[in-house]
Amino acid sequence: MRRKLAAGNWKMNGTAGALSELVELAKHVKPGDAETLICPPAPLLYLACEKLRGTAIAIGAQDCHIEASGAYTGDISAPMVADTGATYVILGHSERRDAHDETNADIAAKTRAAWGAGLTAIICIGESGADREEDKTLDVIAAQLAGSVPENASGQNSVIAYEPIWAIGTGKTPTLDQIVEVHDFIRARLNDRFGQETGDTIRLLYGGSVKSENAAEIFTAENVDGALVGGASLKAADFAPIIKALSRA
Ligand code: 13P
Repeated sequence: MRRKLAAGNWKMNGTAGALSELVELAKHVKPGDAETLICPPAPLLYLACEKLRGTAIAIGAQDCHIEASGAYTGDISAPMVADTGATYVILGHSERRDAHDETNADIAAKTRAAWGAGLTAIICIGESGADREEDKTLDVIAAQLAGSVPENASGQNSVIAYEPIWAIGTGKTPTLDQIVEVHDFIRARLNDRFGQETGDTIRLLYGGSVKSENAAEIFTAENVDGALVGGASLKAADFAPIIKALSRA
């Protein structure tokens, strides 16, 4: 059984005051609910871990460097992330692939660095609007999976997030059939590559304009094990109903 995961990606939003939303959110998350994770900006990681100690909410980072330390001004290493108390790291988000020219090989190297620090990697993949219009979605997904997910991936060390770029922050979502098609395809690819025993343990999240209004329908898909949520994860009042919908799915 794969444990459901509701993950919030705060992106570059929030200063220390915003952590009151996390404390509020923690009041809503009960034992037996879906696993809940918030990935705040790096400067908040340590304080978020402190404030959430003893609650059911896990904390993750939004990126890490491939090296453990060195002359990389402005970067943050995987051991540094782990040192804050965080247990997850999002890698290869389309906003980083685009704005920071991250390649599949970079993301695979970051994933290995994350594993080395004991972090679970949430590896993001997803097609652009043009890819979908040109009917290249599954080819793009296959190439990203092959290039970004290293050997030895497992349900322990990795989660895959399918985030169609055209659905991020736009209010547009794929149809349920489109989500099912891609998630079933990802599952089949993982099973082919890692064997079913391992492939079946890797959780697959859907991301892109998930809201309380559309979450329950998305969570009906067999190979959707949760969501990676941007805007609707910033406020406890918005994220809590998504966690509840996932917990009931
Ligand atoms: P939105 O939920 O704001 O569309 O963002 C999705 C996302 O990019 C999460 O990583």
